[in-house]
Amino acid sequence: MDVLAAINNRHSVRGFKPDPVPQEILKKIVEGALRSPSASNSQPWELAVVSGTKLEEIKKAYIESIGKMPVLDISIALQYPEPWASRRAAVMAGVLEKMGVARDDKQKRMEFGQYGSKLWGAPSCIYIMIDRDFYYSNNATNHWNIFDCGLIAENIMLLATEQGLGTIPAIQPVLFADVLRKLLGLPDSKLMVMGIPIGYEDTNNAANKFRSTRESLDKVAKFYT
Ligand SMILES: Cc1cc2nc3c(=O)[nH]c(=O)nc-3n(C[C@H](O)[C@H](O)[C@H](O)COP(=O)(O)O)c2cc1C
Repeated sequence: MDVLAAINNRHSVRGFKPDPVPQEILKKIVEGALRSPSASNSQPWELAVVSGTKLEEIKKAYIESIGKMPVLDISIALQYPEPWASRRAAVMAGVLEKMGVARDDKQKRMEFGQYGSKLWGAPSCIYIMIDRDFYYSNNATNHWNIFDCGLIAENIMLLATEQGLGTIPAIQPVLFADVLRKLLGLPDSKLMVMGIPIGYEDTNNAANKFRSTRESLDKVAKFYT
């Protein structure tokens, strides 16, 4: 698959088939993505590739955590200013519309949110972590760690696309970072950046009919000569 085709075919999958992804395919994807660039080749990422009964334990613990105060290691703005707020709102509105869920149907919206806690049914999840000592070093926050994690995340997703797999880069899987650390036997120093649920896309799931839009080239890029 050429790179542009992989970029265009990748989209966030919010409904997976339960079929497991062979471990050798997961290894191939993660190993390939290790060639991602990073600031000073620091390679700040640490990856936990979780499947099987361990992932089931995590999903169960997440369902039990619903309603509790999230423990997010990397903070997120609760409100966005414009024009970013409208872009954010369009995603969930678009997904729910495809699912035939009315905007005011709080019950169905809540159920879909809870489905996110179950990683949208994905049989595996790749958690991306960084070390606290590097993220907070020399009295500064090393934001480039997060940037680097974004680079490896996209490469993981493109390689997964090439393997016929669906993914979603998501914060929802790391909303309870403390729960993850406990179940994965990790020390407090491992900060959870994001999770990438991965598996075979359930193309019959209406949520997957949604495709996000992008601003046009002339709106976001200027070419100087
Ligand atoms: C850092 C990051 C965090 C995200 N977190 C979530 C999430 O928690 N839940 C969700 O449904 N989508 C999440 N997404 C997916 C975005 O909504 C999605 O990438 C965006 O709408 C563009 O759509 P596309 O991935 O289908 O191209 C996240 C994406 C990124 C890059």
